[in-house]
Amino acid sequence: MTVTSLGSAAEEIRSRCNIVDVVSPLVSIKRAGSNYKGCCPFHKEKTPSFVVSEKKQIFTCFGCGKSGDVITFIREYYNLSFPDAVRRLAAQYGIEIDDAYDRQTKKKEVYYDVNKSAARFFFDAFTKQANPGYDYMKGRGIQPETVKKFGIGYADEGWQTLSDYLKSQGKQEEILVELGLSSKSSKDGRLYDKFRGRVMFPIINTMGKVIGFGGRTIIGDAAKYLNSQESYVFEKKRNLYGLNLSKEEIQSAGYAILVEGYMDVIGLYQGGVRNVCAALGTALTPEQAALLKRYTKKAVLCLDSDAAGIKAAIRGCDVLRDAGLDVRVMHVDDGKDPDEYIKKHGADEFRALLEKTAQTDVDFKIGLIRRKYDPEDLTQALQFLRACADVLRKLSPVEADLYIPKVAKIGGISEGALRREIETPSKNVPASPPPRRNAEEDAQTRESSPVPEPDESLVMLERMLIKLCMQRGDLWPEMKGYEEAFVTAQGYRISEVLGELYRENTDFDPKAVRERLEDEALVYFDRIQEEVLTGDEDEAFRDCVDKLDRRRAEKRIRQIIDILEMAEGEDESVVTGLMRELADLQKYIKQGERKKE
Ligand code: GTP
Ligand code: MN
Repeated sequence: MTVTSLGSAAEEIRSRCNIVDVVSPLVSIKRAGSNYKGCCPFHKEKTPSFVVSEKKQIFTCFGCGKSGDVITFIREYYNLSFPDAVRRLAAQYGIEIDDAYDRQTKKKEVYYDVNKSAARFFFDAFTKQANPGYDYMKGRGIQPETVKKFGIGYADEGWQTLSDYLKSQGKQEEILVELGLSSKSSKDGRLYDKFRGRVMFPIINTMGKVIGFGGRTIIGDAAKYLNSQESYVFEKKRNLYGLNLSKEEIQSAGYAILVEGYMDVIGLYQGGVRNVCAALGTALTPEQAALLKRYTKKAVLCLDSDAAGIKAAIRGCDVLRDAGLDVRVMHVDDGKDPDEYIKKHGADEFRALLEKTAQTDVDFKIGLIRRKYDPEDLTQALQFLRACADVLRKLSPVEADLYIPKVAKIGGISEGALRREIETPSKNVPASPPPRRNAEEDAQTRESSPVPEPDESLVMLERMLIKLCMQRGDLWPEMKGYEEAFVTAQGYRISEVLGELYRENTDFDPKAVRERLEDEALVYFDRIQEEVLTGDEDEAFRDCVDKLDRRRAEKRIRQIIDILEMAEGEDESVVTGLMRELADLQKYIKQGERKKE
């Protein structure tokens, strides 16, 4: 039998397991009246006060007070979390939990693990013995510290070195193929290494997982760089090389430097310019821009000054601007790329160069148009103006206003004429395609939202609490002991992240939280962040906690009634104690109801 969530697995277990069958192999119990009785496994005792009721499917100890259903028993007995206890019982009773969230994370972990083993293997090959990869990188001035930081490795020229190693480690062939580490020969069915004679750069996402590799040939292969193919865990368009190392520096510098290549990231980083990352050998994508925007609102494109670099810069400008980033473009002329420049001149001069040459994206484009059409030449002046108008048309009126005087002056026409040109539709380019939704919205609509199966009001409560704790981090410690508030898998994951951040003394900044979330939990979190809370936060929080307390009280009342019914011939004082607790709880619930009226 298959269920789709932990919650329904728990229900299935409760309805299917007989607590007596689960307890009796672990605790020696004997029939006593309508119950079973034995010595409590949770505290030391000589006379039995641990009672199991087959009828009610619960256990209770009249000595130490522990009590609960079959899941609680397994939790307490093996000291497990709730999900682990459910999984254990589910396995025992042949209930398969087909939890999409769970399944996805588990599957991903297997893939990450294979990539990690490969990265480790390449790294060892690079660092533990003499090899051509090491010599090559040494020749390029890469220091041992940098090698370690970026996990640089070496894939030798053999055809099976990595494949054989990974297989010997028990990794599945299909996964090696899917990850693009190996390919399967159609002739003999053997696995062959894809990366041979290359210096290897592991591509690591912001959660620290190895998602793929870039490899630079050192034996003069036709392809200078080879990247892992896209896979279940590797989407080029959603990742930036180096961001795992540079995200903090990007945040503190207040901007990111975007370069073209692996070696540019590594070179700048080693040279002391650390707020740097690169698109993965592709044109910058909206998803990458959105990723970057989690850390900064400003990007400086630093691309090679060759034709390809300029073309990439033009595209990159638009993508970054569309994502809402403030864009600058800088030029490296001496030494053809940033890596070579910083090696030659050092970090300070690189930063000075940035200061000196960085232009806004608009200035950069107008500069290019000016190089293409000479505004002094009457026949080209009109083309110059039209092309500039196309650039300015994309800006907000306020921003366009900043550039209009400048362009009019260069083109030798009145500002009014330029303004009218901007207001008429473009003659140079076809009608613009419908506006692109941003990448985050895309992600939301594509990944169908998880259908929360717990009680709707509990889900609302969960969302409210997450929202409140995000706004008021100081409320988080008060959530201690209320773990049951997190009823959805996504909410539970968010609570884990908040717990981590709290323990690390890190503020509950949405950025910091988002960074650690994945897939559905991230989508869920973004939704919660969009909700608007009005009114007093403390009051709202007290209200939530109140609701949780009442739910607990109600649950405990039901439990006490059950226990009392099991108390055949138990110590009078235990029974009196329970009766008193019951009365107090009922009073508490009544008071709450009165307050509400
Ligand atoms: P070095 O020559 O090692 O300094 O590399 P580079 O980083 O300066 O490379 P280059 O400027 O030639 O290219 C920039 C980036 O484009 C590289 O880092 C790669 O991501 C990508 N790239 C370059 N050549 C290839 C190729 O042959 N295939 C693929 N897939 N990507 C490439
Ligand atoms: Mn280079």
